[in-house]
Amino acid sequence: MKIAMVGSGYVGLVSGACLADFGHDVVCIDKDPGKIERLNAGIMPIYEPGLAELVASNVKAGRLSFTTSLAAGIDGAQAIFIAVGTPSRRGDGHADLSYVYAVAQEIGENLKNPAVVVTKSTVPVGTGDEVERIIGAANLPHQIAVVSNPEFLREGAAIGDFKRPDRIVIGAEDEFGRHVMQEVYRPLFLNQAPLLFTSRRSSELIKYAANAFLATKITFINEIADLCEKVGGDVQDVARGIGLDNRIGSKFLHAGPGYGGSCFPKDTLALLKTAEDYDSPVRIVEAVAKVNETRKRAMGRKVVEALGGADQARGKRVALLGLTFKPNTDDMRDAPAIAIARTLQDAGVDVVAYDPEGMEMAAPLMPGVQMAQSAYEAITGADAIALVTEWDAFRALDLDRVKALARAPVLVDLRNVYRPDEVRAKGFAYTSVGRS
Ligand code: UDX
Repeated sequence: MKIAMVGSGYVGLVSGACLADFGHDVVCIDKDPGKIERLNAGIMPIYEPGLAELVASNVKAGRLSFTTSLAAGIDGAQAIFIAVGTPSRRGDGHADLSYVYAVAQEIGENLKNPAVVVTKSTVPVGTGDEVERIIGAANLPHQIAVVSNPEFLREGAAIGDFKRPDRIVIGAEDEFGRHVMQEVYRPLFLNQAPLLFTSRRSSELIKYAANAFLATKITFINEIADLCEKVGGDVQDVARGIGLDNRIGSKFLHAGPGYGGSCFPKDTLALLKTAEDYDSPVRIVEAVAKVNETRKRAMGRKVVEALGGADQARGKRVALLGLTFKPNTDDMRDAPAIAIARTLQDAGVDVVAYDPEGMEMAAPLMPGVQMAQSAYEAITGADAIALVTEWDAFRALDLDRVKALARAPVLVDLRNVYRPDEVRAKGFAYTSVGRS
């Protein structure tokens, strides 16, 4: 089957490469000529484990190609995916749909064959109706269906998530749409990945509800972690104790500095906007968004406390280990490290940082933060070390070496990577999250 993927960003590129790997003939389209040129030269615009290899092997097999021309790319395609960005609109938090609608318009102007147009971008309820209206206005002579097929890819694990999904959600209003989507995902269907067919509006809402629920789970355990610190509990044990209940589940109960990334912060705000538009408040999600925002700076204050409080902190030096919003990505969007660094700087602290992949993205977002070439270089001369992102490289630091290089053996572990007894036995002043 010939498939066109409009938008070669994170979602479009991963989805396009995986669909090509299933044996489909995929064209990835992007307006940015520089990006297409680099992709044709095998250079990925993002860091995602396994992506460069997957792209290279499918290009070599002749199943995957790149172009800047939407008209050429969609020619003969039975399925056209829209995978362009839907950033938060400045001012009101509503998803900015201008890119999605511009693509719909261009599809309407150029489509020469029957096709299913699939929104993969995260879009608010009702967007599919508008896409259908825009394309319908072109009065095309052949059959067109507009379908919703949200992505649930985690950065850093996106290829595995695409190829072995928990479920595939398809919101289609007619048999043509359902049939073509079944063909697109046939290779996964044979692996018995559950294919959930529903209405387009339900499908659009499923994406937001899923992300809001996961954000709620994280925020819940983060607040329980704070309570653990006050009452003398251990949040790791509490998370395990509740997570073993199948109705709750053990995943996404890891306490930390708050969620970040390209999805949870933006999608929770967009859901709140939809709820407001329809006069149907989702108060739990309102609280989640607020609590998470304040948490990031609170984590900065936790590091200030470890330095001996605001009076002692001024002029001291803190090493931040890990900057990206989570490991195995170079993505800095809404990363807690940004707010943590700012809080420290506001307290007069010098910040030096190291991240295995994210420093290039981080530098412009963190003015005044010195970037080191390695974890040990960052630690050298530091009055405290704050582990912000749990990259594997930080899981087994040589603590004797850390102690020798740092000015003071103070470790603030915001991801609960280390065992308190072991680190304290090495002579560190150790604080973590939710473990008194
Ligand atoms: C998320 C969803 O998981 C994915 O299905 C959706 O399509 C896009 O958004 P992603 O943003 O890549 O994916 O990251 P994820 O692994 O979900 O983590 C999001 C944030 O939550 C990170 O900042 C992470 O550190 C934090 N997190 C996650 C926790 O603090 N605790 C947890 O237990 C899990």
